[in-house]
Amino acid sequence: MQLGVNIDHIAVLREARKINDPDPLDAVGIVKRAGGDQITIHLREDRRHINDDDARRIMENATLPINLECACDEAMIEIACKLNPYRVTLVPEKREEVTTEGGLDLIKNFQKVDTIAKQLKDAHIELSVFIDPNAYQIKMAKSLQANWIELHTGSYANIYAMLFSNLAKTKHSIDELELPRDALHIKLKNALEELDQSAKSACSLGLKVAAGHGLNYQNVTNICAIKEITELNIGQSIIARSIFCGLEQAIKDMRDLLV
Ligand code: PXP
Repeated sequence: MQLGVNIDHIAVLREARKINDPDPLDAVGIVKRAGGDQITIHLREDRRHINDDDARRIMENATLPINLECACDEAMIEIACKLNPYRVTLVPEKREEVTTEGGLDLIKNFQKVDTIAKQLKDAHIELSVFIDPNAYQIKMAKSLQANWIELHTGSYANIYAMLFSNLAKTKHSIDELELPRDALHIKLKNALEELDQSAKSACSLGLKVAAGHGLNYQNVTNICAIKEITELNIGQSIIARSIFCGLEQAIKDMRDLLV
């Protein structure tokens, strides 16, 4: 299992103060030393976390492959092609969201993604699409000639949190909070089943399968059991733990779980 460390959250902390500290670039050497396989960054259209200068400096200095997440937008793809990362992951973006909510709808965005797929192919950049675990989306990813899919694990992670974390700390729909625990267990089983089936069908179509969003030190083990998933992109939980034990240790702790 490969580990991509999403270092956006370092820029989130910096932007809370609008100063130049902490610098996400300082993380790239640490990620490598700790056994991370890839750096993931999300250059948002509104640049609210990582900015163009961060992306350029990270690209110039990182000795690990860079997975650049960005919206399905012509201007963003132009920037992505100039930055020339190893992979571009297309994600849906809404300005008002706190983080990426839901996967990219490849049916709705087919035309746009088709054009982008050709541009990235010409630029020799791998294409990944961040999608919900759903058979239609996987078929679309295949017909768009994506190299990768990244399965959105957010629903699974939310249900897991409702079952096993302090409910008061999670912000989920009231309807779901009111579900009896048995129903939540069934929902969790179904969410895992969807991820498992999706990973298997993507793999059988020749797509490489990554997963991410909301994964942490507790819920990651179930995802590691899905053999077809060969890469996880994890940010929030690693950066949160790093406050208490340092980034290198936080990454090593996660690495140790990805067997
Ligand atoms: N993968 C994608 C495509 C994402 O958008 C994000 C969130 O930025 C992640 C993985 C990492 O999610 P988290 O920060 O919840 O670990």
